Amino acid sequence: MQYRQLGCSGIEVPVLGLGGWTLGGSAYGEVDRDTAMTAMRTAFDLGITLIDGAPYYGDTEIWFGEEFRTRRHEVFLITKSQRRPYTKANLFANIEGSLRNLRTDYADLYVIFPDANTPVDEILDGLIQVKESGKARAVGVTNWDSAMLQASVGKVELATNQLGYSLFDRYWQKTVFPTCAELGIGVMAYSPLAQGLLSGAITADTILPPDDVRTHNNLYAPENLPTNLTVVEKLKEFASERGLTLSQLALAWTLANPLVSVAIVGTRRPNRLAEDVGALKAALTPVELAWLDTIVASIVGVAPRFG
Ligand SMILES: NC(=O)c1ccc[n+]([C@@H]2O[C@H](COP(=O)([O-])OP(=O)(O)OC[C@H]3O[C@@H](n4cnc5c(N)ncnc54)[C@H](OP(=O)(O)O)[C@@H]3O)[C@@H](O)[C@H]2O)c1
Repeated sequence: MQYRQLGCSGIEVPVLGLGGWTLGGSAYGEVDRDTAMTAMRTAFDLGITLIDGAPYYGDTEIWFGEEFRTRRHEVFLITKSQRRPYTKANLFANIEGSLRNLRTDYADLYVIFPDANTPVDEILDGLIQVKESGKARAVGVTNWDSAMLQASVGKVELATNQLGYSLFDRYWQKTVFPTCAELGIGVMAYSPLAQGLLSGAITADTILPPDDVRTHNNLYAPENLPTNLTVVEKLKEFASERGLTLSQLALAWTLANPLVSVAIVGTRRPNRLAEDVGALKAALTPVELAWLDTIVASIVGVAPRFG
């Protein structure tokens, strides 16, 4: 495994993390407890010791708690906030609920979403209180825009902003990465495989069940998918010339940005994690990165925005 600093927090994290949402069953279909446990154990054996959890990712926090109660010190454990509004009381109650399920006294990182209905100062006061209580070693945000990040300056140190980032999704890179760089906030990149499109597992014949999260992803819309699959084919060819699988190329691309501290990958199939770790052997050159930009310039549709 390779490690990077999480922004200016002084905390070192593995560059690959395991996504809890994918294991929680609500995104890509049911996942049973044994599969989720095997995914966690496999991830750990491979050095993927960062777990991106949340109380609304199915029963995953309970499962994490069962699995890691004796290995807590090995895990970089993230939990997120649940109920809005993000009043001080709610932020505190939310993390306490997660810690009970996780069977631990502290999270390594507590991450919150935007909340347009609560004054940002009150949200930040809540984060300060959580951090000072020791219930989280560090605090961070997800999907926060630049103005909200700027409001944190001088009040609370945000270790991360968790943002969607892949070869097929540059929205946050264009809009918020510069502020993260300016303020020393580390980016945790989620959906680095564009929810599977950049894994090669999706074909023109793939039929997504109606409750699959990708039915809301414009990159997969029937009018966009055929074009995007032609781009995928070109990327596959490029990857193969480099001795990589498509997933490895996509992950290597995401990690080629030094602002990215971690890429959080999701899978319901533990055997795929070894392949994902294989991405770390690739170091893409500036010429290759520029060539990849030209290949993906023709994609159509945009990745979903989470909030
Ligand atoms: N903060 C936020 O707003 C936010 C939003 C979205 C996601 N997240 C976090 O980021 C994590 C990952 O994001 P994501 O699930 O949206 O997208 P992702 O990691 O880009 O894609 C997940 C998909 O890739 C497939 N996959 C993974 N490795 C593969 C491999 N080696 N070969 C083939 N397929 C592979 C998985 O399929 P199989 O299951 O079939 O392997 C799954 O369908 C989530 O679990 C969650 O923790 C956070």
